[in-house]
Amino acid sequence: MSKKVAVYRREHFNAAHRLYNPQWDDATNDAVFGKCNNPNFHGHNYELEVKVSGIPDVQTGYVMDMKLLSDLIKEHVLEVFDHRNLNKDVSYFEKLNPTAENIAVVIYEILRKQLHKKFDLQVRLYETPRNFVEYPAS
Ligand code: NI
Repeated sequence: MSKKVAVYRREHFNAAHRLYNPQWDDATNDAVFGKCNNPNFHGHNYELEVKVSGIPDVQTGYVMDMKLLSDLIKEHVLEVFDHRNLNKDVSYFEKLNPTAENIAVVIYEILRKQLHKKFDLQVRLYETPRNFVEYPAS
């Protein structure tokens, strides 16, 4: 019998971005990205949900210490993303369009390196209350 349990940590960060493809001309970028292509950037209040699945430890009853999970997210994600311009300040997006999809993949890759391989990881990122993405897709 599988006793895998999922635990979730919700965090928040504010960041600015601009969506565009440098290989396209302005008209094409405007047509595809609309307001998100504003050259002066725009901001979002991102909500991040990190899901970690594993078998609760026999001694503690925890899948993992939630304080540790919170600290990992703060140190490796929020410190890097919060109150930043993703295009200009965050090296991951030097050549990667900072869409919600790509931000979620980047956050997953950052946290995957910090978590023991016995855990499954999934990241959900809300760019607005109604628009959100999940990686890996389930
Ligand atoms: Ni946007």
